[in-house]
Amino acid sequence: MPDGSRSTVLTNIGTLVTNDPESGDGALGVRHGAAVVFDGGLVAWVGDASEAPAADDRVDLAGRALLPGFVESHSHLVFAGERAEEFAARMSGVEYAAGGIRTTIAATRAADDEQLAANVRRLMDESVRSGSTTVECKTGYGQTTEDELRSALVAGRFTDEVTLLAAHVPPPEYAGRADAYVEMVCRDMIPACAPHVKWIDVFCERGAFTREQSEAVLRAGVAYGLTPRVHGNQLGAGPGVRLAVELGAASVDHVSYVTAADIDALAGSSTVATLLPAADFCTRNSYPDARALLDAGVTVALGADCNPGTSYTTSLPFCIALAVRELRMTPEEAVWSATAGGARALRRDDVGSLGVGSCADALALDAPSYLHLAYRPGVPLVRSVWRGGMLVSDAAA
Ligand code: NIG
Ligand code: FE
Repeated sequence: MPDGSRSTVLTNIGTLVTNDPESGDGALGVRHGAAVVFDGGLVAWVGDASEAPAADDRVDLAGRALLPGFVESHSHLVFAGERAEEFAARMSGVEYAAGGIRTTIAATRAADDEQLAANVRRLMDESVRSGSTTVECKTGYGQTTEDELRSALVAGRFTDEVTLLAAHVPPPEYAGRADAYVEMVCRDMIPACAPHVKWIDVFCERGAFTREQSEAVLRAGVAYGLTPRVHGNQLGAGPGVRLAVELGAASVDHVSYVTAADIDALAGSSTVATLLPAADFCTRNSYPDARALLDAGVTVALGADCNPGTSYTTSLPFCIALAVRELRMTPEEAVWSATAGGARALRRDDVGSLGVGSCADALALDAPSYLHLAYRPGVPLVRSVWRGGMLVSDAAA
């Protein structure tokens, strides 16, 4: 088995996705007959297989597709319990409301750190098996300074991309007093958690936080060196998208209801629109108008939004299939959004593509081309996953 200290040449690749338009065809930079060399945790060489340099190990992909590992830029893995009954009720006609989050807050507060860590480990492992090699993870089911801090520390054991979802929903002890909750978040929670997280997030939505409350939280995070991301426009049109753009947020996530003005604002900005179609699928919500966003030139990422309420899946292959079938994205757009798009949403240029110098994070499909991700929905096609040049998941083993 290749390890990170040995160089590896991957050869006999069916279709290679580099996401480098200079290296191959189209936005995905697709190449045929290529080989890739991993060395020291990075991509050391990409070129025609006939010219591949020697390496310590050789992996024959037998015509399988090789892609950059998926970059999951939106997940909520620090939680306890589950909400299958709420899902069943929803499927019988009950509408999703932000308040369901409080059920998970109660279970999470009651769990100890090791229980929370075991849950994160289980879902991180699941993510890797479906091809995600970078996974962002949010807090948000503590909603006290102590519980958000321990959530951040638990998440930080598994990823560098930790987001403080400081204002997810006003917790029960602040019922009817969202302003007082926001004041506590800005005064106590953000200063205590900021050294342990990279991003600040807020749920700007009816039933959660208003534009003013959301802005106060995001600005307090910025004052402590954090970069904003926003949950916005999930359940209805609202101020989330424009707030995100105004504050220079890295992403605004969900974006299922947008106006022409929202699209214009996004198109002229560096804020990525992160679409989470599995959440819309699991809540019978409207899907985002991905075509309008893409055609206006907005940068689009795809995330799975794994959480126990609206989207209990870690599968980006499933999201790619939804994006193609339901959001009318092309297979190329969907694959780009789940790899390079996720990297843009996390402001990373070392992941999401396979060019010389990129992280050696990749996946091989049990199929000759990336097209099969949408063409064969629900089939576990991800066969091998490498992270930093190491084989971290192998369905054939
Ligand atoms: O991304 N929208 C807010 N947060 C989660 C849902 C959380 C929950 O219902 O537990 C989301 O969909
Ligand atoms: Fe979310």
